[in-house]
Amino acid sequence: MEDIVEVLARLGYTVAEGPEVELDRYNFEALNIPRDHPARDMQDTFYIGDDVLLRTHTSPVQIRVMEKQRPPVKVIAPGKVFRCDADVTHSPMFHQVEGLYVDRGVTFAHLKGTLETFVRELFGPEFKVRIRPSFFPFTEPSAEVDISSPFLAGGRWLEVLGAGMVDPAVFEAVNQARGNNDYDPEEWTGFAWGLGVERVAMLRCGIGDIRLFYENDLRFLRQF
Ligand code: DAH
Repeated sequence: MEDIVEVLARLGYTVAEGPEVELDRYNFEALNIPRDHPARDMQDTFYIGDDVLLRTHTSPVQIRVMEKQRPPVKVIAPGKVFRCDADVTHSPMFHQVEGLYVDRGVTFAHLKGTLETFVRELFGPEFKVRIRPSFFPFTEPSAEVDISSPFLAGGRWLEVLGAGMVDPAVFEAVNQARGNNDYDPEEWTGFAWGLGVERVAMLRCGIGDIRLFYENDLRFLRQF
């Protein structure tokens, strides 16, 4: 997490934070995921109440930042996220870093260049990057980024990042909360991404099972 923040700070990002216990409005609604939307199934949510939940991603911090400040915006939001999901590559609690860049004239080419620079800096030249078209309700178009490393068995690809161009519907939700048109989608564009931190560590250190991070086995921990 420290390495990730350090690389992005050099690219001009400042750190923002949001709560781990989050409102439905920030985790879903303002991110263009209404209550009956099938995309809610993408993330099995721990609910605390009707409108209160453990955040399933760091994307709600995007909304909190934009509600508070006018564009341009260039922030990263590192933190814990929670999902009802557990296997070798999924843990019920894990860490993400969210990135958001909003300015005049931001394009997908800027997103691609940023991600490629970021991956090169963080992993080194022996790692390969693959960008695939995907879908997220809060970005259009959307992409997923996979990384393959010589240390991973069979040279398999591991998804580490979701990204895309901020959907105008997200800017409209922010405008509505702000009561103005500061985030006019005709004037401002942006890109965003969310990165899985444990996945980065697994790739960098050749760790095949995410659960090892949380078992507190000293034989594992002492290697670091
Ligand atoms: N929030 C998504 C997830 O947790 C990741 C993500 C995808 C974040 C696209 C973004 C984005 O900011 O633009 O799966």
